[in-house]
Amino acid sequence: MEKIFKKNICCIGAGYVGGPTMSVIALNCPDYRIDVVDVNKERINSWNNIDLSKLPIFEPGLDKVVENCRGKNLFFSTNIKESISNADIVFISVNTPTKLKGIGANYASDLSWIEASARQIAKYSRNHTVVVEKSTLPVKTAETIKTILNSSKEDNTNKKTIKGNKTFSIISNPEFLAEGSAISDLQNPDRVLIGGEDTESINLIADIYKHWVDSKRIITTNLWSSELSKLVANAFLAQRISSINSLSELCEETGADIEEVSKAIGMDSRIGSSFLKTSVGFGGSCFKKDILNLVYIARSQGLEKVANYWEQILVINAHQRDRFSKKIIDCIEKNNLEPKVLLLGLAFKKDTNDTRESAAIYVANNLLNSKIEIGVFDPKVNINQIQFDLSDLNENYDKTLVKFIQDPVSNISNYNLIAIMTEWDEFKEFDWQYIYSKIKKPAFIFDGRNILNIEKIKKLGFNYTGLGRK
Ligand code: NAD
Ligand code: UGA
Repeated sequence: MEKIFKKNICCIGAGYVGGPTMSVIALNCPDYRIDVVDVNKERINSWNNIDLSKLPIFEPGLDKVVENCRGKNLFFSTNIKESISNADIVFISVNTPTKLKGIGANYASDLSWIEASARQIAKYSRNHTVVVEKSTLPVKTAETIKTILNSSKEDNTNKKTIKGNKTFSIISNPEFLAEGSAISDLQNPDRVLIGGEDTESINLIADIYKHWVDSKRIITTNLWSSELSKLVANAFLAQRISSINSLSELCEETGADIEEVSKAIGMDSRIGSSFLKTSVGFGGSCFKKDILNLVYIARSQGLEKVANYWEQILVINAHQRDRFSKKIIDCIEKNNLEPKVLLLGLAFKKDTNDTRESAAIYVANNLLNSKIEIGVFDPKVNINQIQFDLSDLNENYDKTLVKFIQDPVSNISNYNLIAIMTEWDEFKEFDWQYIYSKIKKPAFIFDGRNILNIEKIKKLGFNYTGLGRK
């Protein structure tokens, strides 16, 4: 007999947020049925792959959660219509990239996918539906969703199939997970934020999380505070990285060591030690787009100084990538080396296969523009993705200059230079002594993550260049 569930949840969007978030809800709420739907058939097929190593997203621990729930109370499909019409709660977890044309181009978020989802909900929902904004959205997006839900209700041509009156409640429930640690972030969130206007719907969403999150960590606000808090949280995190990255350059000029400075300031409990690790630049699908969005909102309210303040975070981030690239290019020129670099890592951080906005792609592009051949290796990123990313940045990039490396250590004799772009643990654990014995001399390492032990690496004979330290 088919199991009767206490609540039916539909999630539109089976991406980096929809997939893991709904899997963890399914794990903790066996009394709820969760349907994750997407227009992308290939992605859905991967979510349904029996081989759990083929899930569309690599996230430590995700395979176990999916294995536990899939086919029991967690379902992945393209049946958008059916899943919405059976749902009490619909989460919208679709992409909200930066707009490329029209009003607000290059700053505002493109809400086409949100609007399409709202139209689908308006069309297929039945009775009362709580619509939850899980995607990161500009403040006041709930107004747009409301307008679509209400107007489409009237134009609906399928009136005969609708039982009763359709009503909607909108809730903002932004997601704070970080990639690479999504499952533990979802299992133990610092806080769950629920913004809304009606207490009944807020409580309905809080009840989901209360299955495993302490009530003290579930905070409720009005809709607009919740929408804005998500943008601000990302802006604050990115601001810390740009602050420390800007100081890495100052350290290089003054003889201070950025790792020592980070430690010294991070031990002040008012400052805290998180997000003070210098790097070649932050990447990921959200920091840049969310800051651009914040800048756009401030500017459209006439707050030019506020907008300029937040925009500087992105200026420093691009500067960090460019100055790292320049160090490599200068080294090749100064030492008259064969123009070839082995890039270790393409993912925007370790433990993910996501390369969106990865600093590595920008550095690769800078090197290619200087006619430098690059060998590319990442433990989790496939060749198609690398080709896609490089052509996304420059569709005419010189393909003959890109080599895909399966085993970097055995290919090392082709290179003088190695650049570490992602802080994968396995790079720390490489046999650097062996690598030194095989690499062309003079040998150079550019450590874009400061993950190697300088003393040991230098002792082996490498010329080492890190960030903010000598
Ligand atoms: P994603 O691109 O990985 O996934 C979005 C999915 O939505 C895609 O698979 C797409 O096919 C699907 N989709 C789009 N429109 C659809 C429609 N009308 N019907 C059905 N499916 C549709 O994006 P993501 O990384 O999961 O991000 C989603 C949102 O969450 C964004 O707003 C992002 O800012 C926010 N967010 C992301 C992260 C993260 O770590 N990636 C963390 C917190 C918040
Ligand atoms: C970030 C936030 O941490 C999440 O809370 C948020 O939900 C998410 O964005 C989002 O809205 O998409 P994520 O981008 O997945 O998560 O990963 P982070 O750990 O924040 O790292 C972002 C980038 O900053 C990476 O490139 C990382 O290498 C870099 N970083 C991070 C540093 O350079 N230094 C640090 O100290 C920390």
